[in-house]
Amino acid sequence: MSVIRQSARPPHASAFDLPGFLESRTAAVNAALDRFLPSASAKPATIHRAMRYSLFAGGKRMRPALCLAAAAACGGREADALPLACAVECIHTYSLIHDDLPAMDNDDFRRGKPTNHKVFGEGIAVLAGDALLTQAFEIAAQAKGWLRYSHRDLIREIAWASGSLQLIAGQVADLEGEGRKTSAAQLRYIHERKTSALLCCSVRLGGMSANCPPAQLKALTEFGYHVGLAFQVIDDILDVTQTSEQLGKTAGKDTQAQKATYPAIVGLKRSRRIAEELTDKAFAALKPFKGQAVALAALAEFLLKRDR
Ligand code: IPE
Ligand code: IPE
Ligand code: MG
Ligand code: MG
Ligand code: MG
Repeated sequence: MSVIRQSARPPHASAFDLPGFLESRTAAVNAALDRFLPSASAKPATIHRAMRYSLFAGGKRMRPALCLAAAAACGGREADALPLACAVECIHTYSLIHDDLPAMDNDDFRRGKPTNHKVFGEGIAVLAGDALLTQAFEIAAQAKGWLRYSHRDLIREIAWASGSLQLIAGQVADLEGEGRKTSAAQLRYIHERKTSALLCCSVRLGGMSANCPPAQLKALTEFGYHVGLAFQVIDDILDVTQTSEQLGKTAGKDTQAQKATYPAIVGLKRSRRIAEELTDKAFAALKPFKGQAVALAALAEFLLKRDR
């Protein structure tokens, strides 16, 4: 780690018990998702089994963790953020099911298991994604509205981040970039949308669930944007450096599919440096929280150093 990074990290972040935080929050999110979703036997059972198969396959739950940590940073109750944390995880899981389809990245493994379409067939996988996307809005509608942020604001926030100007736009550009020469600016456009938008939304929703003042929401937006970009740069790096067993998804697929990625465009060393610089910017955004954002800072550091 560089000297600049050491100084950029807010104090106390390294003393924070992140493994304990992740374990307890993952358990809370999993239990809540289990309550929010129709049971596996609800008719038609195939779709509910398919939705639950991918949702409970063992994702890292980073978006819910960021949402809950942002609520805590703003002095809110994590219980108020929980439906929103579950909603973003449903959107994320839907996006992965569709991302893996033969018509998109054509992947056979996800979260250490065969992909949804491999188990249930393409038709059901498309529908399981559709159903999780819809489910997200039903769950989000169960969150409390606030003085500063109404239900309408919360729903629009999620719709914006996952819609055709953000997440979908990024996925479109990602597909259209396959096998093409891509500039650094175009790659930034793809990462902002396909990945950073939903991570940023997760953090913002946590703040909104705490009725945070506008200055805190601005700081969370700055934090989420940079953490989200770093997240995808690291994802691109791990595709090159890790094994499929470590990742729980097939490694080396980006090179094979001639995807536009940071390692492909600027090389591994420069990619790592870019991820560090983005994380430093995320740390800097937490300054207004004056030490109250330890969980967010610890998460940003964890996401930079992760190996899967
Ligand atoms: C993978 O996201 C897809 C990207 C946006 C890079 P994660 O790495 O968070 O996947 P899970 O949720 O842990 O499976
Ligand atoms: C996925 O990006 C982004 C979304 C699903 C929105 P990738 O295609 O790089 O994710 P992985 O590597 O398959 O997890
Ligand atoms: Mg993809
Ligand atoms: Mg993919
Ligand atoms: Mg990837």
